[in-house]
Amino acid sequence: MSLPQPKPWISAIAPYIPGKATTPSGRPAAKLSANESPLGPSPKAVAAMQAACLSAHRYPDGGATVLREAVARHHGIEAERIMCGTGSDEALHLLAHAYCSADDEVMFVRHGFMVYPIAAQRMGATLVEVADRDYTADVDALLAAVTPRTRILYLANPNNPTGTYLAESEINRLHAGLPSDVILVLDAAYAEYVTAPDYESGLKLARTAPNVVTTRTFSKIYGLAAERIGWCYGPAHIIETLHKVRGPFNVTSAGLAGAVAALEDQAWIERARAHNNQWLPWLQAEIEALGLHVVPSQCNFLLIRFPESDGITAEAANLALQEAGYILRWLPGQGLPDCLRLTVGTEEENRGVIAALAAFIRSAQAERQAS
Ligand SMILES: Cc1ncc(COP(=O)(O)O)c(C=O)c1O
Repeated sequence: MSLPQPKPWISAIAPYIPGKATTPSGRPAAKLSANESPLGPSPKAVAAMQAACLSAHRYPDGGATVLREAVARHHGIEAERIMCGTGSDEALHLLAHAYCSADDEVMFVRHGFMVYPIAAQRMGATLVEVADRDYTADVDALLAAVTPRTRILYLANPNNPTGTYLAESEINRLHAGLPSDVILVLDAAYAEYVTAPDYESGLKLARTAPNVVTTRTFSKIYGLAAERIGWCYGPAHIIETLHKVRGPFNVTSAGLAGAVAALEDQAWIERARAHNNQWLPWLQAEIEALGLHVVPSQCNFLLIRFPESDGITAEAANLALQEAGYILRWLPGQGLPDCLRLTVGTEEENRGVIAALAAFIRSAQAERQAS
């Protein structure tokens, strides 16, 4: 009996692996694997979502008007040039959907966000993975990899899972070197965490360039990952195209209400930023004091590199930390088998995960001495 067969390029997709929420034994644990906000959503956003649930029998506003206007006010951009989506993931997928065919190439940086290759593969496009340098996007290498078949360059700035970023001048240099028919997608999911003074999220370039789109999310600092709300901003001709292919009711009423209230509660966002500014450097210093290397991060997570010798490997650390009740992200699928990514947690989680990591290293060293 022959079975229905998916298109071959769909069969070839390696599914997205979400951050784990439970340990192998099923024991509850601190989830430090998905770059979520340890503070959770603003209580004002929660109240707005609860109120919106009373109208759950009505379809949401498919145009996401109130949210687009709130985003436009907050960022000083035009509401007509914003498209809201089911997470920023939807915008990332729709860009490939609308602009790529089977003969096209889609570029992204090695050690990048897993959604880009999936979005491209869905269209049967050819994946062009470009080497990074010191875990950071390499503008010259990216420009050298452009061909007449290149349609999209996806760039997370700052990048997940490395936490590194490109300065505004480097982004401008990258854009200046790209052909005008290539879309530069600047994914700024972690923009609100960035402290580097020479960073710009992409809004500035997306405002003036006819081939730049920037994507943003309410899943990270706004603490609304479960609601699936993101948006993108770019030239009118691209935004109009994306509207044609998006789901007609792609953001829920509760999500819209929650996001508007979250945006208006900037005091909550300031708290989240201050928490990150306190604990990100603390975690980095503590991990380095244990003799491990940390990639400098502008996000709410750190990439920790293990020596992969004397029992101190990322895989062994991952298991030991899970047993101690902390779930991090091991990244062999992203070419980083020697790394764990750690999301900044609550104070208790941060102190706990460092104590567990120190205990793991002590026991690995004791075992080596005994052998
Ligand atoms: C770089 C990057 N872009 C986009 C996203 C997707 O976010 P959303 O929840 O808005 O789909 C993530 C989530 O982890 C991310 O790390």
